[in-house]
Amino acid sequence: MSKLTINNISAGYGSVQVLHDVTLDVQTGETVVLLGTNGNGKSTLLKSVMGLITPSSGAVEIEVDGQITNLIGKGTEEIVELGVSMVPEGRRLFPLLTVEENLTLGAYREAARRKIAETLDFCFTTFPRLKERRKQQAGSLSGGEQQMVAVARALMSEPRILLVDEPSVGLAPILVSQMIAKIKELKELKNLTVLMAEQNFNQAIKIADRGYVIVHGHIEFEGKSASDLENNDMIKQYYLGA
Ligand SMILES: Nc1ncnc2c1ncn2[C@@H]1O[C@H](COP(=O)(O)OP(=O)(O)O)[C@@H](O)[C@H]1O
Ligand SMILES: [Mg+2]
Repeated sequence: MSKLTINNISAGYGSVQVLHDVTLDVQTGETVVLLGTNGNGKSTLLKSVMGLITPSSGAVEIEVDGQITNLIGKGTEEIVELGVSMVPEGRRLFPLLTVEENLTLGAYREAARRKIAETLDFCFTTFPRLKERRKQQAGSLSGGEQQMVAVARALMSEPRILLVDEPSVGLAPILVSQMIAKIKELKELKNLTVLMAEQNFNQAIKIADRGYVIVHGHIEFEGKSASDLENNDMIKQYYLGA
């Protein structure tokens, strides 16, 4: 069991408030999409969960195998240790390090370090392309391959809760489809609980159980199911071009 609960968080940068009383949850085994166009606070929300920024108010709680932990005030390393990991927007790889070195760096969680060879093997089975290129510098890979490294690196810490920030950015449509399908496959294989930020509604809806729409740092709509999202007027207007 692994769930994430975000309650009324407000957060921002310096004096600029970006998130306003955001409440959202992801239950065990769900894939929940956080929909929003550029600059509406998706990354800020995911960074708040990872301890990369500290909310000014509200609560972020996880429950992993019956153990409830409040993440507010915890550092990112500790949060990773607790079983949360993130695929950041724009991949954020170490371009001069090899694929394998980038992946190994993802395994700093103590439990993960003990089974690093096994997890690396799993990543290479999942992404055979990365196995072929394990000794290649990450910066010399194509965009699609770099996104594979970013996802694989997040898996190296053996997370229970996975945050994925706009996996579709900068990828050709066919690669987006493959990446979205891969996230679903990984979720099922590894029993992950997934929160995915996306602005590509048509792709996200392929794997989302339900979702939220964030506008100017406010949750404007909560869709309780995929069809709930598809039938929402705001989504039709802004994401489906109706
Ligand atoms: N490091 C930062 N410093 C100051 N403002 C930021 C920073 N990062 C993001 N912002 C601002 O916060 C708002 C939300 O950004 P972000 O969370 O990145 O949105 P999204 O991920 O939905 O595109 C934007 O107005 C953006 O300019
Ligand atoms: Mg973003």
